[in-house]
Amino acid sequence: MDTQVQRDFPIDWEEDHYVSRREFFKFMTLASGGLAVGSVAMAAWSKLPKGEIHFEAAVVAKIADLQPGKALAFSYPRPSDLCLLVQKPDGEYVAYSRRCTHLSCPVDYQAEHNRLFCPCHNGAFSIEDGRVLQGPPPHPLPQVKVEVRGEEIWATGVEHGEESV
Ligand code: FES
Repeated sequence: MDTQVQRDFPIDWEEDHYVSRREFFKFMTLASGGLAVGSVAMAAWSKLPKGEIHFEAAVVAKIADLQPGKALAFSYPRPSDLCLLVQKPDGEYVAYSRRCTHLSCPVDYQAEHNRLFCPCHNGAFSIEDGRVLQGPPPHPLPQVKVEVRGEEIWATGVEHGEESV
């Protein structure tokens, strides 16, 4: 009878529990590793110089490309550094890194709320200074310094703000 049961259900319960414990410890090891990596990343962030970092100035748009309440994507200072230039309803230009400080999803400008919004986990940032308004992002968005030169808008540097939380 036992032989028949083992053939129908070829699971060794002792070993099955052992595998479950092994999977649990594997999970705990991975989770601990993830926490350690997260701690190192947080420490690295805190060591980043605060304030403006100057890069070579570059044209990012023409004035004619935008209008109040609209946004334009660009890259600065490297091609892989995605940013968003916004002309606020009052006409002022502001620009931010487009990379959410939570898990790097791209943020978009929401004219109706006058904020930058990350759809991945409902994070939101102020259009005024990039500070976190809601959601899990731990830091403000780096602000790209822009200025109008004639008919063009130039980026001149990037400012990393203080921590939001
Ligand atoms: S990646 Fe932006 S809120 Fe999570």
